[in-house]
Parts: sequence; structure tokens; C-alpha cells
Amino acid sequence: MQATLIIENANQVVTPKRSSFEFSRTESMGELVIYENGAVAVGGEEILAVGPTQTVLAQVEISSTTQRIDARGKTVTPGLVDPHTHPVFFGTRENEFEMRVLGRSYQEIARAGGGIRSSVRSLRQASHAELLAAVLPRMQTFLENGTTTIEAKSGYGLSPEDEIKSLEVIREVNQRQPVDLVPTFLGAHEIPDEFRNDRSGYIRQILEIMLPRVADQHLAEFCDIFCEEGVYSPEEARLILTAAKKLGLRPKIHANQLAPGGGAKIASEVGAISAEHLDYVSTEDIQALFTAGVVPVLLPSAVFYLNLTHFAPARAMIEAGLPVALSTDYNPGTSFTESMPMAMTLACIQLHLTPAEALIATTLNAAMAINRGHLIGSLESGKLADLVVWNMPNYRHLAYHFGVGLAETVIKRGKMVYKKSPLLI
Ligand code: NIG
Ligand code: FE
Repeated sequence: MQATLIIENANQVVTPKRSSFEFSRTESMGELVIYENGAVAVGGEEILAVGPTQTVLAQVEISSTTQRIDARGKTVTPGLVDPHTHPVFFGTRENEFEMRVLGRSYQEIARAGGGIRSSVRSLRQASHAELLAAVLPRMQTFLENGTTTIEAKSGYGLSPEDEIKSLEVIREVNQRQPVDLVPTFLGAHEIPDEFRNDRSGYIRQILEIMLPRVADQHLAEFCDIFCEEGVYSPEEARLILTAAKKLGLRPKIHANQLAPGGGAKIASEVGAISAEHLDYVSTEDIQALFTAGVVPVLLPSAVFYLNLTHFAPARAMIEAGLPVALSTDYNPGTSFTESMPMAMTLACIQLHLTPAEALIATTLNAAMAINRGHLIGSLESGKLADLVVWNMPNYRHLAYHFGVGLAETVIKRGKMVYKKSPLLI
């Protein structure tokens, strides 16, 4: 086996142990494997070998063309996976941030025409080329923070043309830079202004025009809906997600974010791959998610950023056997961050995950939430060579040393795509 790249002498090479995911009451979060003085060998786009440096060096052929990275004193993990982002927006909403700082609530601002609907008005004014130019550089920030794959939702278009435009931009961004984007159709993110008095008219448009087009043009893998009081009801979620499923789009759902509701149960009923937010779930909801095999995707940075105090009951989920995943919820309103390490810090402090659980939740479990667990999320031969060399002595620093950029080198599909530049002194 000819190695094209080898990362060697790392203080730690760390990976989730389990290669595939099972719902299990005893071992839902799995555990980490840690190689001290570790190495990862890569051949083309794939991982060839992982283990102690001497073992890996003995397993692969190294030639003069093999790129060698010395990771002495550093830590290597799988590339982080962000399973819930809203990156296709045009213009930002720092005005709302300031209003919230001064005491207005997210819902108040939304009722007054701000929030998602304000982003919708902006995006509709952008051409495909303008939107592409806005979204493309955002991927650099994900990479700089160690994220190599994201799930990317539409949802700021809310008309057939603007939703298709958003999904086409996701497709093009995917082709033009290294971060992999997994597309989700979120036409049911809000009711747009022009349908405020005719919500069933908008839902009809989703069912009869948008979903068939999205499916026909293979523009999305998943269909999501914002199921929350004042947005979409559980019944509407059932209707839209069932129709999406018939067309081959796997359901996802924003559920139980701001108040208790029926969203988590609908996720179980329609066989969603994941249910997201889940800040207000009951013991029964957790049981239903377990029985139906739904991955919970938790977004503590949205709770933090909205200055709320009610965080998802993550420990109860783990105890019930659910494989908890974490995400940034990257969007211009409720969580304007691309940083998964930030989500890990918040998960440790507010959700009481251990740093090990937080790493599993941002790698393998996050990959499972977007149906990529067979390809990414752990370091194993045959998986894609998506790797991060972090400037830290052990994996715990990812959550412990917060709010700074620790990623030093990022490898995507076997190629170095980001390298932090050294201090110019
Ligand atoms: O996940 N919850 C729904 N959607 C986003 C908010 C998007 C926005 O405010 O622009 C979220 O938090
Ligand atoms: Fe979201």
C-alpha cells in the first residue's frame, strides 16, 4: 500500500471506537480509541492505516513523493462533521443581535417581521451568482475550525424559484471547494410574507411544486421542517415529511426547540433520520426517539446565543441509549458560528457531556445524523481521509481551551486544504 500522505509522531491520534452505529442502551455513546505517539497513513482519498507510529510505518510503503507531516506534541482527530447548518443566506442580522442584547426576544423580533422572514426578503433579491459569491467564502471558516463536512439547508427562499436557487448554490459550492455539503430542503422554515393569510396555500405550493422539483432534480437528500408553536404544527410536519419521504427525501425535523410540542413524536412516527434542537423533550419523547432509531442533534450554541437557559436533557438521552450528535446550527439569526469546538465547550458545560462524548458527538454520531457514518466520522482504513491536526496535546483541549482556533492542518479527502500560518516574527 503506497502512502500519499502520512501524519506521524502525534501526541495523540484519537477516534471513536465503533465504526458503525447502533442504538444500544448500554453503549450508546461508545468510546474513544487513543494512540499515543500515533500516526495516520493515507492513500489517495482514503485512510490506509491508523495506530502507533512505528506500527503504521511498518504497514505502508513510503516513497519520496509521500507527503509527511510531523505532528509532534499535537492531536489528530477525524474531520468534524456539522450535521445542521443554514449557510445559504444573503446579508446578516447584526441589528437583531443588538436588539436582543437590549432585551427584545427572538420571537418578538420575528413577530415584527424580523427573523427568518427578514433573511428571506434579502435572499430573494440576490441573483444566483451573488448568492454563490456570498456562500462560497463561508466554507473557509468551517475548514479553519476543523469542520470537513456539513449538512446545508435551504430555507431562506420560501418560493419555488428561491428555494431551487438556494439548493443549486449548495450544489455549486459543493463542487467548488473542499468542504462536503449534504443538501437538505427546508421550504417549511417559515410561512413567507405573501402567504401570511393563506398558510394552506403555501403548504400546497411545497407539496405540489417544490418537493416534486427538488426530488426530480436530485437537489436534496433530506427534507426538514421547523415544527414549533407559531411556525409549523405537528400535523403539518407529518403531512410534509410523509410526502417528502414518498419522493425519496429522508425526513429531518426542527423539533421542541422553544417549547414542548409534538415534533419529537412526529420524528419517530415518520422515521426521521434525526430530530434537531430537542431542548424541551419529555421522557416519553426520548423513548419514542430510541424505539424509532432517530439520532438527536443538539444545538447548545443556539440556546446560548438566544440567551435562554433551557438546554436539552442530553444525559437523559444518553442514559436512554440515544447516540447524541452536536451541531452549530450556523445561521445569521440564532447561532452565528461555524465553530464545532465552541459547540463542544457548551455541550460539556451546559449538557454535561464529557469531552470524549463531545468528540464522538461531533464526529461519528454527527456523520450518522446525515447518513455518512459509513464514510466519515472515525479514523479507520477505508474511510475518507478527513483529518485535523490540532495544536493541542490531547483531545480534551478541544472543549477545554475554548473560543480560539486550534486547528493547525486540515486534510480533506487526503489533500491538505488548510494550514495555519506561523507567527511572523
Ligand atoms: O435553527 N429554528 C429555526 N431556524 C433557525 C433560525 C434561523 C434564523 O433565525 O434565521 C434555527 O435556529
Ligand atoms: Fe436550525
